[in-house]
Amino acid sequence: MSAAISVSGRRVECAEDQSILEAFLRAGVWMPNSCNQGTCGTCKLQVLCGEVDHRDSPLETLTADERASGLALACQARPLVETEVALHGSEMGRTTHVLRDLTATVVGVEDIARDTRRILLGLEEPLAFSAGQYVELLVPGTAERRPYSLANTAEEDKVLELHVRRVPGGVASEWLFGPVAVGDRVEVCGPLGDFHVPDADDDEGEPMVLIGGGTGLAPLLGIARTALARHPDRTAVLYYGVRTEADLYDTDRLAELAERYRGFSFVTVLSRETRPGHRGGYAPDAFVEDIASARGWSGWLCGSPALVEAGVKAFKRRRMAPRLIHREKFEPATPRPALAEIYQEPPG
Ligand code: FAD
Ligand code: FES
Repeated sequence: MSAAISVSGRRVECAEDQSILEAFLRAGVWMPNSCNQGTCGTCKLQVLCGEVDHRDSPLETLTADERASGLALACQARPLVETEVALHGSEMGRTTHVLRDLTATVVGVEDIARDTRRILLGLEEPLAFSAGQYVELLVPGTAERRPYSLANTAEEDKVLELHVRRVPGGVASEWLFGPVAVGDRVEVCGPLGDFHVPDADDDEGEPMVLIGGGTGLAPLLGIARTALARHPDRTAVLYYGVRTEADLYDTDRLAELAERYRGFSFVTVLSRETRPGHRGGYAPDAFVEDIASARGWSGWLCGSPALVEAGVKAFKRRRMAPRLIHREKFEPATPRPALAEIYQEPPG
């Protein structure tokens, strides 16, 4: 049975099989969200009145004490009766891109680096999103969904570009590095996530630093191209970290951007080998070495949880304001035996 749920005076119906987050996003009402799989805690909200079923909310993300004090994970919980919730911050109930289900056709499959593929998905109708957001892909032949960031700008709304790193034995990897073929049909759902460029009116053209590990480059490509097109003279520095030269891709695209925009530069950082033309070590450390103060800059981090956490520390060390730090962690959907670093190394 469905139940109504409201935030800041905006009331929507939540179907029995929908999470609170899904119900709001499908109605175009914003809620903070990142992983949509119960692992990051970004979507935590306060239940003011009513009652929710926490369903699969993991105890690591939502503790027993938090449940007892009325907190819930919007991406997991369902209202059992009419319920009112509150969010922290000033953006409660604002409008956002509507979350939609789409059927896409695979129009490109390209090996771009070791164990890394570019997958292009053609859409029949354009998808409205902000550069940096992601879509969920329903892995064909399974009931499993996996999130993948869009490398597109918002104008590139008919062919979605995903960069995928193989996880040995992974459900999505088995398909994306196995039988996937041009012409296949696949269900996607999006857009999701709060890792995206601000609206054009709110973009002040401040200097930016972007740090990506492995396929964490994908959303940064959309974000950097959007930000530079708006403010062609802005300073933007991208640190792109991988293990070895064989893991790098799209450096030609980055070089083209650097040629087109004088304020844009990029640094490739290899953690496991020494090669001419690349820095050694970890991308957040290279940033700390190069930039004495990032006061007034915005920071954009994407890749493994370890890379993102190291990047946050590096930004704070260089005086970046916490509100200007944006991050997307490529957390696996299922628990890991150990935190191996497929999207980029942990800092030393
Ligand atoms: P699964 O079946 O999920 O995992 C198989 C096994 O490997 C499990 O035991 C699992 O715990 C373990 N495992 C999974 N990932 C890792 C890892 N990184 N390190 C160590 N062990 C692991 N990935 C991309 O390549 N490109 C993207 O653009 C991208 N965007 C994402 C955006 C968001 C918001 C999030 C949360 C994740 C994103 N990911 C991205 C990760 C992606 O969604 C999948 O988790 C990844 O592709 C593995 O899925 P799988 O089904 O192949 O493996
Ligand atoms: Fe809900 Fe991550 S825990 S969006």
